[in-house]
Amino acid sequence: MSDASHLIGLLLGTEEDWPTAFEALVRQVGTVTDGLDNTHAFDLERVTIEPFDLRAAPRHSLVIDRLAYWYYHPREWLKKVALTDDVYLLNSPFTFQSMEKHAAYCAMMRLGLHVPDTVLVPYKNPPEHAKYAFTAARYNRPFDLDALAEQLGYPLFMKPYDGGAWVGVSRIKDSTDLHRAYDESGQRLMHLQKAVDGYEVFARSLSIGAETMVMRFDPDQPMHGRYSVSHDFLDAATGDEAVTIGRLVNAFFRWEFNSCETLIKDGVVYPIDYANACPDVAITSLHYYFPWAMKALVKWSVFCCATGRRPRYDLDTRRYFDIADRTDLSYADKLAAYRALADEYFETERYTDFCASRLAHFDEVAAEWFAGPAFDQLLVETVRSTFPAHEHDQFIAHYRGLIGLWVKDEQARLS
Ligand SMILES: Nc1ncnc2c1ncn2[C@@H]1O[C@H](COP(=O)(O)OP(=O)(O)O)[C@@H](O)[C@H]1O
Ligand SMILES: [Mg+2]
Repeated sequence: MSDASHLIGLLLGTEEDWPTAFEALVRQVGTVTDGLDNTHAFDLERVTIEPFDLRAAPRHSLVIDRLAYWYYHPREWLKKVALTDDVYLLNSPFTFQSMEKHAAYCAMMRLGLHVPDTVLVPYKNPPEHAKYAFTAARYNRPFDLDALAEQLGYPLFMKPYDGGAWVGVSRIKDSTDLHRAYDESGQRLMHLQKAVDGYEVFARSLSIGAETMVMRFDPDQPMHGRYSVSHDFLDAATGDEAVTIGRLVNAFFRWEFNSCETLIKDGVVYPIDYANACPDVAITSLHYYFPWAMKALVKWSVFCCATGRRPRYDLDTRRYFDIADRTDLSYADKLAAYRALADEYFETERYTDFCASRLAHFDEVAAEWFAGPAFDQLLVETVRSTFPAHEHDQFIAHYRGLIGLWVKDEQARLS
């Protein structure tokens, strides 16, 4: 029997809402006793940025990173603590730095998922490099952008190969749009992707460790209205397929905190976006689903620390490709086989059992916290810092209603 104390680090940019909720909930967890009767306590710290010695021993057991995708000093710190000390990271900078959306498309095509047809076009404006002119004159083939688009078929999307946050994404209906978007892309590397036109459902899933929530999404709504509270918007098989796709992408790339966008048309699930190292978990976008996300983040962090789960930065691509390459398996068979690999990677069964046996009290205390004054104050402050003054009352009532609905559903589930 031993006592361990784990320091969870938060590497943050401007976010204040979910970190405050996360910190409060970790404090609610208290001490956890594992199956060998060892006790685990948890402490929190927001990571600060300062010079670091490459041989210095880190104090953290696990770090949730929301910053390294644009701030490179802490990104290098993350790599250092991962390589030298096995600090557990959500997410690994190794794969999200090298495997952007483009790589994810390629890998998922290889695995047989219904990624829409996609072409990567060369830079509109060349990279600034002394050797470019010579190299391009020698090796760049002229190409016919219109012919490419016609081959894919309109409508289509032009979007950055490493996209995020809808920046530089355009829907292209004809040749005029096409040339305008390409001209505007400048030095950005762009995909042309066939649109899934007239889809019935946009399902956006958020995965945190071994848990995945598939939510109904409407990209045409303003931020506060994109997710709708809807429990049976997919039939069981399609819902399961969406979960499998999200979990598969994550297990494949070792991403543990990621969102995945899928469009569903005529029963086919098309994954279109799933390489998001820093998925949106704001109260004001997730609302009803925010408590689920925070609880999952707390439980996964606690699980990783208390069970001594080791980070893995080696990709087991061959195991996935061996399934992909089999000609005797149907799409459904392959999905089931990938799901088994993904659940193995995430230790889904062990995690579920850990939550049930070691965190049995957490559901109750979390429900109380979300129903109580501390969360309400956070909600009010978040609305005040997000919306203009004349909308405060309206949105405070709006979000209180949605969180209240979650609390009611959760209490019914627990009773
Ligand atoms: N192939 C597609 N078919 C239909 N809609 C798409 C397609 N690709 C992108 N979109 C729309 O554009 C939005 C942004 O594209 P996405 O690939 O998600 O870029 P980002 O990484 O910037 O979020 C999507 O949420 C979706 O609404
Ligand atoms: Mg997207």
